[in-house]
This record gives sequence, C-alpha cells and structure tokens, in this order.
Amino acid sequence: MPSTKQSEREELAEYRRLNVPLYNEKKLKLGLFSMNCSGGMIISQAPSSWTIDWDYHLKLARKADALDFEAYIPVARWRGVGGEMDFLGENYETFTYASAMAASTENIMTFATVHAPIVHPIVAAKAGATIDSVSAGRFGMNVVMGWLVPEFEMFGVQQRDHETRYEYGSEWIDVVDRLWSESEHFDFDGRFLQLKDAQARPKPIQPRPPILNAGNSPTGGAWAARHADFNFSSFADLEGARNYTREIKRVANEEHGRDIGVLTYGLVICRDTEEEAQAVHQQIIDMADWRAAHNWMSVLGVESGSFNEQMHGPLAEFFVAGAGAARVVGTPEQVVEQLGQINQAGMDGVMLGFLNWNEELDYFGERVLPLLTEAGLRG
Ligand SMILES: Cc1cc2nc3c(=O)[nH]c(=O)nc-3n(C[C@H](O)[C@H](O)[C@H](O)COP(=O)(O)O)c2cc1C
Repeated sequence: MPSTKQSEREELAEYRRLNVPLYNEKKLKLGLFSMNCSGGMIISQAPSSWTIDWDYHLKLARKADALDFEAYIPVARWRGVGGEMDFLGENYETFTYASAMAASTENIMTFATVHAPIVHPIVAAKAGATIDSVSAGRFGMNVVMGWLVPEFEMFGVQQRDHETRYEYGSEWIDVVDRLWSESEHFDFDGRFLQLKDAQARPKPIQPRPPILNAGNSPTGGAWAARHADFNFSSFADLEGARNYTREIKRVANEEHGRDIGVLTYGLVICRDTEEEAQAVHQQIIDMADWRAAHNWMSVLGVESGSFNEQMHGPLAEFFVAGAGAARVVGTPEQVVEQLGQINQAGMDGVMLGFLNWNEELDYFGERVLPLLTEAGLRG
C-alpha cells in the first residue's frame, strides 16, 4: 500500500494533470513574463508599443489566453534600476494585476510574484486563495527572496545574507502551505516568524496552487527542489541548461521524493526574414541604455569592470537585449528550432517577452504557433 504521503502526492499529480494548465500534455509550455514593467526584458530605448495603459495589458492577457498559453507571470518590482529610462521603473503590482487578469481570462494561469521578505505570508496566502477563487483554480505564485537592495531599503527592510534569506523562505512557505491546507487554527513558533492562532479561509480551489521559485544559486536551487513545483531559471548555453535541469530534477526526486519542472524566459524577435530580425536586435543594442544595463548587471553581481571598456561587449549586450533571457531571434522557422532546442535541454516551458508585446504576440500566434504545433511541441 502506498504511504499517505505518497498517495497524497499521487492525488495532487492527478488533480493537476486533469485541471492545471501548466501540467497539460503540451511538451513546451508557453507564457508571458515581465510584461507588467517598463522595459520588460529590454534595457534599451528602442521604440516599443509598451505602455502602462490598462487596456494594453488587458488585450495582451486575453490574447495570450486565446492562444492557449499556460502562464502569465508579472515581475515583482517596486522601483526602477535607474539609467535614462529607469528600467522597470513603471510597474503594476502583481497580486492585483493577477486578480484582474484572472477575472478577464478563461484558461490561462495568472501568477503573482511575491517578495517573501517584504510580504507577510498570511497576506500572500489570503491574496493567493482569493485569486484562485476568482480564477476558478488558475492561480500560481512565483516566490522570490529579492535581490535589489534599494528596493528593500525603500521598505526599511534589511535584506538577510544569502543563506539566511532561503531559511526564512522555508518558514514563509511552510506558513503559506499550512494556511492553504489546514482546517485547524495553529500557532507557529519559528526562528523568524511567530504567529498566534493563524487561520485563513477560504482555502484555494486547487489542492496547492503551483509555486515557482526563481532562485538560481545552489542554495536557491536546493530551496526550489524542496518547496517549489517549478524552478524559473536563466541559462548561459544549452549545455548549461541541460546540466542544470537534470540536476535540479534529480535532487527534487531523490532527496525530497517530489517532481519539479523548470521554466525559463526568452526574448523573441521574430520577423519574416532573418535580416529583419537581426536588424531589430541591432537597433535594441544601438539604442541601449548602458547606464541602466550597468546598474542591472551590478544588481545581479555581474562584474562589468570599467564602465566604458566593458559595457559595450557581448556580455552587456546579452543584458541589454533580454535582461538575462534567452535570445530567440530569427524567422518563424528559426524561432521554432531555437525553442525546440531549449525544450530539448530540459526546460519545460519558455516564458516569452517582446519589444512590441501586443503586435508581436499577434505575429507569434499567426506565424510561429502553427509551426510549433507541427513540430509536436504544442500538440
Ligand atoms: C526568471 C527569473 C525571474 C525572476 N523574477 C524576479 C522578480 O520578479 N522579482 C525579484 O525581485 N527577483 C526576481 N528574480 C531574482 C531571483 O528571485 C533570484 O534572486 C536571483 O535569480 C538570484 O538567485 P539566488 O537568490 O539563488 O542567488 C528572478 C530571477 C529569474 C531568473
């Protein structure tokens, strides 16, 4: 007879297989990421149709939904990173954004991204359960520990050292899980959190809304393997992606008896010809906001060296066009090939970004999606 834990896991897997878009039969899951922030994945002043106007965002979410994308994931950001454009400086808050999108769409999962050290777990659990109710079970939560120090200073919150922030994260997610699943009230006496008579009703509709975590360090990856349903990760090359996805799935399985998926994000520049696509990429580089890119790289701990000497090299360009995302550039056929390679490397899904979100998503739907289906990636 399977143990209770094992049978609970099997029940959860079965529920998800039947009801949760990110667990559908499609080989390559698709979504949008970072559309709620100015700049999105592009640290450049190349002209873009992106605007903070609500109608623009509503159209985008509905289009992604109509194209049967699985996920709509905003970035948690409270301020920009400077430069002339103040990259990411204009942004919508993610729980309210996810809730509005949940009410305006039919099938796509709407995510909130939450800074665990800034948002109390009772607030996150309650907001999450509310959005799960609004969406009839399509909510997911991207839990991040945060990395932008000025953001923490803005709140008067001290960022913990790297190891400790993930220990805190473990208590934080335990509290959320208990609030989502336990009918009895409980006291919680942790190292970081002390709660008295904690309770939350209603529970989410899903047994457990999927948890993403975007930690990419060994500690972040270990946390994801233990607590998350998907790790959300960048990668330098396909070989690195292959090793990373294999290892994190192994650790989740062997050390915690659980399954984990891995998602990544990609900036798509797709045009009728390769020359046109490369020209758009070049325009993004030519109009880069190097100061903002430099600030972004410092936030990530990337050594950019002397500002003038290093800032125009390939590494900086990688951040200008993509902000760390995979760059998927070319004709529809080439884009399909590149997305297929990322999938082959163990990434279960790619969360896309564009320069002109609404217009290019239309083009993607018309020109790329049918080819992805033909290639068996969306069948
Ligand atoms: C795909 C992806 C999405 C992320 N989203 C956010 C976010 O919305 N807000 C945020 O503060 N950090 C975000 N991060 C940063 C991560 O949470 C994390 O701090 C960073 O990857 C460093 O990993 P580490 O904490 O394991 O060192 C994201 C990172 C990645 C790769």
